[in-house]
Amino acid sequence: MDVVGWCFFFLLLPSFFFLPSHTQSESFTSILVSQNGLDFVKDLLVNKAIASIIPLQIPRIEKSVRIPFLGGIDVVVSNLTIYELDVASSYVKLGETGVVIVASGTTCNLSMNWHYSYTTWLGPIEISDQGIASVQVEGMEIGLSLGLQSDEGGLKLSLSECGCHVKNISIELEGGASWFYQGMVNAFKDQIGASVETTIANKLSEGVSDLDSFLQSLPKEIPVDDNAALNVTFTSDPILRNSSITFEIDGLFTKTETNRVFRKSLSSVICPGNSKMLGISLDEDVFNSAAALYYNAEYMQWIVDKVPEQSLLNTARWRFIIPQLYKKYPNQDMNLNISLSSPPLVKISEQYVGANVDADLVIDVLEAGQVIPVACISLVIRGSGALRVTGNNLGGSVKLEDFSMSLKWSNVGNLHLHLLQPIVWTVIQTVFVPYANDHLEKGFPLPVIRGFTLENAQIICSSSQITVCSDVAYLDPSQLRLRLPRSTPKSF
Ligand SMILES: *[C@@H]1O[C@H](CO)[C@@H](O)[C@H](O)[C@H]1NC(C)=O
Ligand SMILES: *[C@@H]1O[C@H](CO)[C@@H](O)[C@H](O)[C@H]1NC(C)=O
Ligand SMILES: *[C@@H]1O[C@H](CO)[C@@H](O)[C@H](O)[C@H]1NC(C)=O
Ligand SMILES: *[C@@H]1O[C@H](CO)[C@@H](O)[C@H](O)[C@H]1NC(C)=O
Ligand SMILES: *[C@@H]1O[C@H](CO)[C@@H](O)[C@H](O)[C@H]1NC(C)=O
Ligand SMILES: *[C@@H]1O[C@H](CO)[C@@H](O)[C@H](O)[C@H]1NC(C)=O
Repeated sequence: MDVVGWCFFFLLLPSFFFLPSHTQSESFTSILVSQNGLDFVKDLLVNKAIASIIPLQIPRIEKSVRIPFLGGIDVVVSNLTIYELDVASSYVKLGETGVVIVASGTTCNLSMNWHYSYTTWLGPIEISDQGIASVQVEGMEIGLSLGLQSDEGGLKLSLSECGCHVKNISIELEGGASWFYQGMVNAFKDQIGASVETTIANKLSEGVSDLDSFLQSLPKEIPVDDNAALNVTFTSDPILRNSSITFEIDGLFTKTETNRVFRKSLSSVICPGNSKMLGISLDEDVFNSAAALYYNAEYMQWIVDKVPEQSLLNTARWRFIIPQLYKKYPNQDMNLNISLSSPPLVKISEQYVGANVDADLVIDVLEAGQVIPVACISLVIRGSGALRVTGNNLGGSVKLEDFSMSLKWSNVGNLHLHLLQPIVWTVIQTVFVPYANDHLEKGFPLPVIRGFTLENAQIICSSSQITVCSDVAYLDPSQLRLRLPRSTPKSF
């Protein structure tokens, strides 16, 4: 088959593996494919395999048959074509040595041309005849055993075993064939059966190697925006359990120069009831790596020079709040320069997703084209978040829970911070929160292979990690721009 086709465009590169040799690499995101998920992928795979296998040409067979009195007859069976293939039942099973996919009760229908000729001993007259025949193959068993390992951060799929066994084959000549022809053609049964077996097995192994190329060509990073990407490098071999496979990936936000400061690993993916096809667990450090990345990229600074109530940004309005300010700079416009003083810290617990943000708020006076910083207030802002899955993205929103202030320095005397409280609150609510929500709304992509979409996703928070439990759907492959090496036009 042009396995390509084979869709294994899996979910997450699921599949199979070899040894449960769990290496020590850190992983901050893990993806669990449950038995339901495996079944989904298997069905997809079987359908893709059938679609891409048909029509399948089987090499011509030539044979000399000895018939008493007549002598040697040369018979050729050509244009053997499998044009229909039905799989009665199939299953996928996780074994100790990998993943096994078995299709049983498979039937296939073939058409063929036959031709024979012989020269009689009566004279130099060649006698020949030809026609077409239809062939039914029944009770065919097809089995694949696959191994999957991580390989330099990617996945390597290997075929450990591939078998195709034909149980029963019947050949019917079309157009009222005589016993003579039927007897002759029956002599080909075994050879046709064997040929079907090897041709299908070859197609499958070709398919597995195409699929392997596909898996190896999967990107090691998923771009999030111009500044960030998600590192989706595999950090260990897939972990095989009784009825699930877990893939561990790095999962952190990355940018070439980012320093890695995180040091811990995830606990296992838990979806209630194990009924969803897929569970993707993200450690809170995934969010913290995003925060650190954007912090280091200096995207976390805002000059606030417009607020809903513009009079707030004039020293006249601050006259009673900071008398010295007004005295020094009467009726001057102001702006507020807010910058984070450390990366936001995300905390996840069973009840709560939250972030603590440390920020400096510098009060600037604008005088004669100059920006004069006059005071700086340290803020500790506490926000709580709500997470949401939209498409294949994990996004969310934050709201302000509370904040505290302290004076860092001032050129305009001591400030009465409690008087500033409402102004700072307004600034946080109207500038900071909407800015954060703008960015959080779209979120970032979850590591899901193209073509698959999450459905009925559910988010579960636990101590220091969140898990997205979801079913998946598969989009029409014709919309995929995926191209595999050996794919042929007919496959999509
Ligand atoms: C080969 O078989 C196909 C499908 O049965 C048929 O359409 C085609 O005409 C055949 N070719 C020859 C040369 O007989
Ligand atoms: C294929 O063969 C099966 C029997 O094995 C038969 O029931 C079915 O009708 C055949 N399909 C076609 C299209 O000839
Ligand atoms: C093979 O198929 C033929 C015709 O469909 C049937 O009569 C025969 O019993 C089958 N043999 C086996 C071993 O299933
Ligand atoms: C695997 O799971 C099945 C049913 O879910 C159970 O019957 C079986 O004992 C389990 N095997 C192991 C080795 O845990
Ligand atoms: C991605 O993760 C792998 C495994 O943790 C790590 O070795 C690699 O350096 C990371 N890549 C980047 C660009 O951070
Ligand atoms: C804003 O304040 C930070 C320090 O808190 C300073 O480094 C930065 O230059 C200021 N930006 C502007 C435009 O004044």
